[in-house]
Amino acid sequence: MIVLKSPREIEKMHEAGKVLAECHKEIAMRIKPGITTWEIEEFVDAYLKKIGATPEQKGYRGYEYATCASINDEICHGFPRREPLKSGDIVTIDMVVNYNGALADSAWTYGVGEVSEKVSTLLDVTKESLYKGIEQVKIGNRIGDIGYAIQQFVEEKGFSVVREFIGHGIGASIHEKPDVPHFGLPHKGPRIKEGMVFTIEPMVNTGMHHMKMDQNGWTARTVDGGLSAQYEHTIAVGKDGITILTEQ
Ligand code: MF3
Ligand code: CO
Repeated sequence: MIVLKSPREIEKMHEAGKVLAECHKEIAMRIKPGITTWEIEEFVDAYLKKIGATPEQKGYRGYEYATCASINDEICHGFPRREPLKSGDIVTIDMVVNYNGALADSAWTYGVGEVSEKVSTLLDVTKESLYKGIEQVKIGNRIGDIGYAIQQFVEEKGFSVVREFIGHGIGASIHEKPDVPHFGLPHKGPRIKEGMVFTIEPMVNTGMHHMKMDQNGWTARTVDGGLSAQYEHTIAVGKDGITILTEQ
């Protein structure tokens, strides 16, 4: 069942989204060679506490951290750790903010120091694919139109789209209906309606789309060691158009 949100609920989620967007801007200023994802985790924890927000991921299904920090070939759900980032690395920081009981979810991939041209293309294509998906979010379209637009764009650029992790409705908890795949056929899936709030979060690989799971049962990485990037926004469908709740 897809739970539709009232304008008032969407406004509260937007406030959470603004906190999250500000937090990403702060992270962007701190990412440089030598910093560890553990330091970013600690920064986020303290930042949210100061604002009166909480990290919804901590404790979610046994996940222990405020952030997911996925480096290079890690697709998602990397653990923050005490290993310094190096120039040329990429790192995806993903988090869900709870502010006054409302949630917002956003991930961003950061290049560390000087990145190669290939890496910089990967980041550009992945971010652009998110916006190609967002362009399809309009009343009357179907959820499948989003994934179709993303996959077409990404594959045309010679990259691949991860299949195992998809966007999702968000509301009372992190994951609700509808499922929002980043691949597939147009004109399929539920119709987009006023009051829907969901994430779009394409994970894009330089090599094959397949993943393997780490021993820790959380961290997914590319099967061929290729790089993986991700950009995620939480989107609300209103009467007169959409709002990107986590726009920076
Ligand atoms: N933020 C993630 C998403 O985009 C959810 C992570 S679940 C966690 O769906 F348990 F790893 F936190
Ligand atoms: Co997320």
